[in-house]
Amino acid sequence: MSTSFPDNRVGRRHVVGGAAAAVGVTLLRPETVRGFQASSQIRLAIVGCGSRGQWLSKLFTKQGGYRVAACHDYFLDRTIDMNNTMAIIQAPLIDESMRFTGLSGYRRLLDKAPGAIDAVALINPPYFRPAQAALAVEAGLHVWCAKPVGVDVPGCLSIIESGKQATMKRKAFLVDFQYRANPADQEAVRLVQGGAIGKIVCGEANFLGGCPFGRYVDALKKSPKDPEVRLRGWGLDAVLSGDILVEQNVHQIDVATWVLGAVPVAAIGRGRTALRGAGDCYDVYHVIYEFPGGVTVSLDAKQFDGGGGFFCRLYGSEGWYETHYSSHVAIEGKTKFRKNGDIGESGTLKNIEAFHDIVIQASDFANASAEYGAKSTMAAILGRDATRSRKELTWEEMVRKSERLDAKLDGLKD
Ligand SMILES: NC(=O)c1ccc[n+]([C@@H]2O[C@H](COP(=O)([O-])OP(=O)(O)OC[C@H]3O[C@@H](n4cnc5c(N)ncnc54)[C@H](O)[C@@H]3O)[C@@H](O)[C@H]2O)c1
Repeated sequence: MSTSFPDNRVGRRHVVGGAAAAVGVTLLRPETVRGFQASSQIRLAIVGCGSRGQWLSKLFTKQGGYRVAACHDYFLDRTIDMNNTMAIIQAPLIDESMRFTGLSGYRRLLDKAPGAIDAVALINPPYFRPAQAALAVEAGLHVWCAKPVGVDVPGCLSIIESGKQATMKRKAFLVDFQYRANPADQEAVRLVQGGAIGKIVCGEANFLGGCPFGRYVDALKKSPKDPEVRLRGWGLDAVLSGDILVEQNVHQIDVATWVLGAVPVAAIGRGRTALRGAGDCYDVYHVIYEFPGGVTVSLDAKQFDGGGGFFCRLYGSEGWYETHYSSHVAIEGKTKFRKNGDIGESGTLKNIEAFHDIVIQASDFANASAEYGAKSTMAAILGRDATRSRKELTWEEMVRKSERLDAKLDGLKD
């Protein structure tokens, strides 16, 4: 695949700024909101200090069971931003010796981990995730992973292996999918799997949003090959991001695989770059997935100005089910069910609490999300590769080929 692509980061990512009061948090001491004592606090390293990394560091801290003890980003300015973010919500700050930059900063962070860090949160471009997750598990750390877990099949398989290794080492490995963490979604899925809409026939899994990386377009137009420009605008780069289908639409694809309890057997699709000014991601995708039993799920994805919505809907012989990221989950037909709510923050908080419980209670290291997170990412890769090749692609063939993507990042600082 040729290289290049991005979330509603500006709207949805709440870039940090302003006074503590403006973001609704107070300066937190080691004993914090949920009453955790320092001994039950997880010392966390944030890897990827961009918008999600900074937003999440506030949520982790606000939950009370975490202290951000280290951070790593390729770019120095991002680690400074992270420290400024922490300055309004946490005392003590991240010690200067625990702030790392450059590509090799990640290894230096792991070298300093023993006795200083319990867990890493990987919140940087997904291209780096599989290798960084494997190294963290090897170093004996608990691992939090943003979605998607990778950009290619070998990377996803490596995440499954890292999840198993973590289980063997009694370490937590959690992939942050918000629908799966939301109690109302869990209830609806139980009902649907129990027959609430009858026999499922078909569905749709859509991600129709704007481009969260628009601010990097001009720089990338001027210097399309500069590796640092590509890294800042990674969401416009199909290899660093996995393309929009993998990087964003994976949320909705994950719902389909969750409800259906299966991965797709094949996909076909069409797509193109219609409006984007730079990078090599498509901004339009139309994919048809075939699941076991002939169940078909269509997927529409777009990433340019103007809304559309993020949702998954499945139609059965006795009704239909839908879940919308920002508003509600519902079942209509012989069974009626509806719960409202935006799961962006609440779903993430559930995962933050679950991760804390796994680490502190040390009772359940099954790490199921490593496998389903990897399989849902692979389902997205299937749709992407079928579309970009303009040929039907089966799951079996995709796994047999196991194509590895190379972002060709020569020139980045070590
Ligand atoms: N709802 C969700 O689950 C959700 C929402 C938004 C983003 N995300 C995910 O979070 C991740 C980050 O997204 P973002 O919006 O914060 O992007 P971002 O560009 O704002 O931040 C990413 C950061 O990673 C840094 N980085 C790049 N290469 C690195 C490397 N090799 N090591 C360490 N840091 C590196 C970048 O410099 C940047 O600061 C993505 O995987 C994205 O899909 C998930």
